[in-house]
Amino acid sequence: MKDHWDYKTIIEPFRIKSVEAIPLLERRDRERALDRAGHNLFELLADEVTIDLLTDSGTGAMSATQWAALMLGDETYAGSRSFQRLRAVVHRMTGIEHIFPVHQGRAAERIIASTMLGPGRVVLSNTHFDTTRANIEQAGATALDLPEPYGPRDTADFKGNTDLPLLKAALIEHGPAVAMVLVTLTNNAAGGQPVSMANLKATRALCDTHGVPLFLDAARFAENAWFIREREGGFDTWAIPDIVRAMFNLADGFTMSAKKDGIVNIGGLLACRDDAMATGFRNQLILGEGFPTYGGLAGRDIEAMAVGLEEAMDVGYLRYRSRSIAYFVEGLESVGVPCVQPAGGHAVFIDCGALLPHIPKDQFPGQALGAALYLEGGIRGVEVGSLMFPGSKLELLRLAVPRRVYTQAHINYVIEVAERVVARKDSIRGYRIVEEPPFLRHFTARLTPA
Ligand code: F0G
Repeated sequence: MKDHWDYKTIIEPFRIKSVEAIPLLERRDRERALDRAGHNLFELLADEVTIDLLTDSGTGAMSATQWAALMLGDETYAGSRSFQRLRAVVHRMTGIEHIFPVHQGRAAERIIASTMLGPGRVVLSNTHFDTTRANIEQAGATALDLPEPYGPRDTADFKGNTDLPLLKAALIEHGPAVAMVLVTLTNNAAGGQPVSMANLKATRALCDTHGVPLFLDAARFAENAWFIREREGGFDTWAIPDIVRAMFNLADGFTMSAKKDGIVNIGGLLACRDDAMATGFRNQLILGEGFPTYGGLAGRDIEAMAVGLEEAMDVGYLRYRSRSIAYFVEGLESVGVPCVQPAGGHAVFIDCGALLPHIPKDQFPGQALGAALYLEGGIRGVEVGSLMFPGSKLELLRLAVPRRVYTQAHINYVIEVAERVVARKDSIRGYRIVEEPPFLRHFTARLTPA
C-alpha cells in the first residue's frame, strides 16, 4: 500500500487559508526593470518578481496557530508571559539554561563578537556564514573555514561536516587564541548540506581536549536533524525533537536566526550554559537590543517564534520540506541544469560554471544565469560565486525555497523556465561591473552585459 509520500506529486502538509497575489509581468517590463536595477537582482522591487527565491530567510508563511499566537503577545517590558513561553520551548528543545531573544541572527553574532572576540582571537568553523564572518572580522578576530573538501557533484551524505584533522591541527596551531568552534547547521555556504551527529560528537571531543567552547549556528537546526534521521545509521527510529536535543547536548551555546527554521518573519536567539558568559551577553544585549526578556522583539513576535520552532520539528513537515527540495533538484537536472548534489535542506545550488563554460569567471556565470531566469520567467535567485566572493572557486546560483510558500506547481513553472533558458544557453552573455562599493559588493554593484 502506498502512503502519502510514495507518489510523485508532493502533497503539501497544509492547505491554503489566506493568499497573496504574485506579480505576472510582460517580458518588456522585466527588461526595463532589470535595466533600471543595473542588472543586479537585489535592486528589483517585490512587484517586479514572480517567484522570489532570493532567500529562505524571513520569507516563510506563518501557520494559523502562529497568527493566533500573535494575539497572545504580552508586551510587558520586563518578564513578559511571552518570554516565559519561549524560554520553556527553547529550554525543552535544547536543555540550555541561559536563553536570550534577539531581533535576528546577526544580532546574536554581534553580541558574541563584542564579548568574546578581539584582535588575535580565532574562530574555527565548518564554514562561517557571511554575516558571521563579517562580525568576527569587525571585532579584529580571524574566521577560519575548515569544511570537508567536496566537489559540487560529489555525492556524500554529510557534505556540511567539519574537516576533523584540519580542526585538530588548527586547535594545536592557534592554541589559546581560539575563542570558539562554531558549527553551522546546515552548512548554508556549502550548499545547505548537513552535519552528521558523528562529526558533531568528534568536534565536541576535540573542543574538550583543547578546552574550547563549542557553539552552533543553528539557523537550520530542524532540517539538519531531519538529514541525521534519514541518512545517519541508528537514528531512523528517533523522534526529531530527540535528535535536536542530542545535537544541542553537544554544545556550550548557540546563535540562531529564527527567520529560517523558526518560520517567523523576524526573530533570533542567543543561548549559553555558562553563567559568566551569560552575564556578558546580557549586558551587551541591553546595550543594543533591549531588556533580556524581549531582546529587540515585540511580545507577539516572541509568541510566533515559540510556535514556529515546534512546528519546524514536525516530521511530516520536514519530510515534505526535504522532498520538495529534492524534487526541485531532480526537475532541474532532468532539463539539463547541473545542481550541487545531493539536494540540501533549503535551496538548490546551480553549478553555473559547468552550465555556462563559455562565460569566464570574471564575467560572473552565476549572475548571467540569474538574469536570464529573471528575464525569461520573473524568477529571482542569488549569485554565490565571484561576484559575492571575489576569488571564489565555484560559480553558483542559489534558488532558496521559502518555507510553506510555494506549491509544486510554482516549482514546476521554475523548472519549465529553466528548460527554456537552457535551450539557448550558448547565447547567454556574461557581465562586467560598472560601479561597485568597497565591500559586500554583490548587494549594490551595477553591471552591464559584457
Ligand atoms: N547564519 C546562517 C547560517 C544564515 O544563513 C544567516 C542568514 C545568518 C546566520 C544571519 O541571520 O539574517 O537573521 O541576521 N542567512 C540568510 C540567507 C540571509 O539568505 O541565507 P539573520
